[in-house]
This record gives sequence, structure tokens and C-alpha cells, in this order.
Amino acid sequence: MSNYHIKNLEEYFAVYRKSIRQPELFWQEVAEEHFVWRKRWSKVLSWDFNKPEIKWFEGAQLNITENCIDRHLNTKADKTAFLFEPNDPKEPAQHITYQQLYERVNKMANVLKSQGIQKGDRVCIYLPMIPELAMAVLACARIGAVHSVVFAGFSAGALATRINDCDARMVITSDGSFRGNKTIDLKGIVDDALEHCPGTSSVLVVERTKNKVTMKPGRDQWLAPLLEGADVHCTPEWMDAEDPLFILYTSGSTGKPKGMLHTTAGYMVYTAYTFKNVFQHQSEDVYWCTADIGWITGHSYIVYGPLANGATTVLFEGIPSYPDFSRFWDVIDKHKITQLYTAPTAIRALAKERLDYVTSHDLSSLRILGTVGEPINEEAWHWYNDHIGNKRCPIVDTWWQTETGGILISPLPMITPTKPTYATLPLPGIQPVLVNENGIEITDNQVDGRLCVAFPWPSIARSIWGDHQRFKETYFTAFPGKYFTGDGALRDEVGYYRITGRVDDVIIVSGHNLGTAPIEDAINEHPAVAESAIVGFPHDIKGQALYGFIILKDTGTSRDRDNLSREINQAITEHIGPIAKLDKIQFVPGLPKTRSGKIMRRILRKIAAGETEGLGDTTTLLNPEIVEEIIQGKI
Ligand code: WTA
Repeated sequence: MSNYHIKNLEEYFAVYRKSIRQPELFWQEVAEEHFVWRKRWSKVLSWDFNKPEIKWFEGAQLNITENCIDRHLNTKADKTAFLFEPNDPKEPAQHITYQQLYERVNKMANVLKSQGIQKGDRVCIYLPMIPELAMAVLACARIGAVHSVVFAGFSAGALATRINDCDARMVITSDGSFRGNKTIDLKGIVDDALEHCPGTSSVLVVERTKNKVTMKPGRDQWLAPLLEGADVHCTPEWMDAEDPLFILYTSGSTGKPKGMLHTTAGYMVYTAYTFKNVFQHQSEDVYWCTADIGWITGHSYIVYGPLANGATTVLFEGIPSYPDFSRFWDVIDKHKITQLYTAPTAIRALAKERLDYVTSHDLSSLRILGTVGEPINEEAWHWYNDHIGNKRCPIVDTWWQTETGGILISPLPMITPTKPTYATLPLPGIQPVLVNENGIEITDNQVDGRLCVAFPWPSIARSIWGDHQRFKETYFTAFPGKYFTGDGALRDEVGYYRITGRVDDVIIVSGHNLGTAPIEDAINEHPAVAESAIVGFPHDIKGQALYGFIILKDTGTSRDRDNLSREINQAITEHIGPIAKLDKIQFVPGLPKTRSGKIMRRILRKIAAGETEGLGDTTTLLNPEIVEEIIQGKI
């Protein structure tokens, strides 16, 4: 039996048991089976969640790019590593082989070195989803520089905060980015940001849109001419297992963004292992994760996890709605995609559109579907299952976080029987526990608890950059001795986990804890509803009451809307109980979302509470204009 690849349910249980009873032995065997090491570890694990301090594979030396690129050259030099699908479908796709990846990453690594970047330096990457983004990430890893990718939809202010927080010496950006039929002046945003970043001395610029840009002498350089002269070989920097690999800021819906710090060996082992098993990767697969590399999903499951398995991984520059709502289905058909990994928000948006966008394409190449980022509601799950997977592709509802580095709870496709809205079972090595607000472990079924993890896994974040105290307070203080996820979850009678949403979104109404996710689920079941968000607002008698912001598929007349409000409350009563009925319903044209597609509940809470002044920073929203429209009561 291979530790690295689980092939059936019996094996899953056997491997899981071993991973809990003998975690060090288990991870040691995984590490031995699949990876190349410059020097072997002296100790598999040492940890103390109270400090907190976590070390995996201490004493080992390696380079993650050797594992992701070099070692595949013997057998897979001509295999496509990245399949680049541009924003404009008329622009040809690019197949970048492992050999070409090797050469391009090494050239870029040599350029970084020639610009004085050394092991341990932070490099901020602010690029659209083009091959250079992945190359820049890997080039940093090659020479031991710490990459900090900032999603190229963030504003100059948000970018500056992140650059300064990690004190990045260099920024890699492009002249612009394409988004549907628009172009965005990325270089201009970087210029604005750098007005406030005294520590950044160098900017490398990729040409993508041919926008006119201003190059600041002594600071800015075009990347292409530097690459031309660079050598195609670059000896990897030998990194200690616990040397930093990257910093990635979490969405920052509240307070200052947290720069989650991930280190080298454990992150590599865990992302590779989970990619292999959660997507049951086979060598001929063409795997597509629609996330942006600016988020953890892109880091772990577009770049590192797939490459560590020698996979073909798609890099998609576009958006689901351009040139029309068939784009995803078109890409699947064109490249014969075998795994599609996307977010519930995208599924819901596409499910709202005409079905013939889907049915006019051949999706028979698909084998496995995945979702990530938020709880998937039942209606979206069924639509995905019925219309995209044609009821033959298992859906892996993968639960994890920027902080966890990799997927912690997920079905294994074709192995774990799926259940809509359930992320199902923990992956090997993961020991979830549910606790109540007093930290007492919940052993009952179907009782909502706070989701914690009792034991470290290899890719857990090691710190918040520059603020270890905040790391401790945020994750290790509420329930001492455990990692606290901030999420609520429940477990069913067979041990399946259902993530019910952020605990900070739990609303206590008349003493009853209500998760927003199940209520939204019930509302979204209504055929007239496109999407909804529930928040709490202060109520004289109940303490908190529920406010529903609801987007309709068709706005209709006001009489329709009165009827709808009644029907919606009826549906909630049926699905959850009268206690979860909404006190207020507002039909809205859209919901404020972060650029990763998450609803900004903080803003909705304020609007619901009538506090429309001082809504805080809305610049990181995808659609800041919607806030005013909601306040004005537009539908
Ligand atoms: C939520 C994304 C339900 C959860 C990888 C978590 C999910 C937060 C799921 C992390 C899922 C992620 N079901 N909720 N399958 N996946 N979440 O850091 O609340 O962007 O804490 O990482 O997203 O978001 P992040």
C-alpha cells in the first residue's frame, strides 16, 4: 500500500488511522516516497501550540523548485506543465512544457539575482494571471527569496500596505492587465502605491497589454530584455525545511491584513499529497483551477501542488462572463479538462444564466469537480452536479484556509461518498475537533461547534509576518492547545463535517445560535432568488434579529415582492424553523464582495443596523458602487 496515493475507502480509513496514531512515521514515509531532498531531516516534527511553534522535517535541506520542475525533466520534459488560456479566446493558448518552465524560471531567477535579490529578501508580485506570474513565484523559490503575491485587483492603498508590511525590496508587475473587454493600468497602480513605500528600490515590468507606462529611471526596468541575456541554468538555493517560502495576506475584511507565513518542506509535502489525493491525479489529466494565484488556492493548487506531481495545470487569464457566460464551458471543451476546481460564487453566477451556454459544449472530459472558499449551498451543488458533472463526476467540497496552506477536509473523489453541503471527512493527518464556546469538546451529532484542529499538519502557517503575538492571539488563544479556525461546523452521524460559516457570522437570536449559511441555503432554494446574505442587527426583544439582503433573478413588481417575502420566510421555516425567519428583507441589485468573491458582511451589518456613516474601507471591494445603491434602496 502506498502512503502517498489512496485508492479506495478501506485504504483511506487505514491510512487515516495510521496518520493519527503515528503521525511522524506517516509523514516521514510520505516525504520519503515522493520527494527529493538535498539533506535528510533529523526530526520529523516538534511542536507547541502554546508558544506557538511548529517545525516539520527539521534539519532537512531542499529546494521546492527542484521538486516541482527539475526532477520531472528525465521523464516529462516535453509534457505541458502550464497550459495558458488567455483572456481573449482568439489569442492562442500556450503550452509551456516542463523543459521550457525550467529554462524560463531559471532565467527569471538569474535576473532576480542580478538585481541584487538574495535569499530571505521579500519580493512583491503584482501581476495578472499570465505565465510570468507563476514564473516569478517559482523564480523566488529557486533563489530562496520570499514571495508575497498581491492579487492584482487590489487598490494602490491595499498594495502599499502589503508592500510595507513585509518590507519588499522589489515589485514585479506588468504594464497592464486584461479583464473581459477592459484593460487595467497595473503599472499606474504600482506607481501610486510606491509613493508610500520607501523601502522598494526596484520594479520589474512585464509587457502584456502594451499600455503606455511611465518608467522611473533607476527604479523601473522592463523584464524582457533582462531575461534575454540571462542564463538558463540557476543552481537552486538549498533551503532549510523551515525557511520561509512565502507570505500571503488574508482578505482583511477586518483590521490590518495578516501576512500568513508559510515555510518550505511541510508546505511542499502537504500540498503535493493533498493535490494527488483530492483530485486523484493521473498523468494524462488536464487540471483546471479557476482561482487566481493571488489567493492561497492558486498558490497551492495551481502552482505548487500540481507541479510537485508533474501535472498539467491550466492558467486562465479570463473571467467567466467574457466574451459570454459560456467561457468556462468553452475552455473545458477546448482543452478536454479532467478536473474543474472553482468557487461556489462562480457556480451560482453561472447557474443564473441560460442553460444552453452549458449544453452547447461537450463536457464529457470532466472526471472530478471541486469547490472551495465558502460553503456551497444545496441548490448550487445540485446545479453543478446535474449540469456540469452530468451526475457522474464526484464533487469535492474542499474546506481549508490561507492559514492551513492546504485542504484539510474533503471527500476523496470516487472514494468518499459525497453529501451535498458536507465537506465530509478529514484528510490523513488532520484531527478536527468541535468545541463549544467554553472549549468543551462536542461529541454529539448535528450540534454546531467551533472548528479547531488538535494536532499540527505539515502546511500549517508558522506565524503572521512581523507579529507572532497576533498569530498566537488569533489562532491559539481562544481554545488553548488547539488551532482555532474561526469557522463553525457540525458533524453528522457518520462523522461527516459540514462547515456552517465563520463563527463571526453566527447570529444569536432569542438565545438560539443561527448560522447564516443554512438560512441562505434555504432562501436560495427559492426559484426567484439568485443570491442572499443574512446579517444580524440589534433587536429590542430578541437581542439580535435577522436581516436578509436578497438578489432576485427578476426584480418583478412590488406586489410580487411582498409575496416573495412571505414565501421566503415560509421556506426558512420549513428548512430550519420559525426562529430563523427574517425580520427584515431588502431586495438589492447586488452584494458587496471582496475581490475573492466573499460577501463583505461587515458592511451589510452596518447597513442593517442603520449605521451608514463610516462604513470603513470599501476600496478593496469588487463592486464598491453597490454599497450606495443598497443604502438608497435600489433593487
Ligand atoms: C471558508 C480559501 C465552507 C471558511 C481556501 C474558511 C469554506 C475561509 C470552504 C478561508 C468550504 C473555505 N466550505 N467554507 N469548502 N472553503 N471556506 O483563507 O470560512 O480565502 O475559514 O482560504 O473560507 O478562506 P481563505
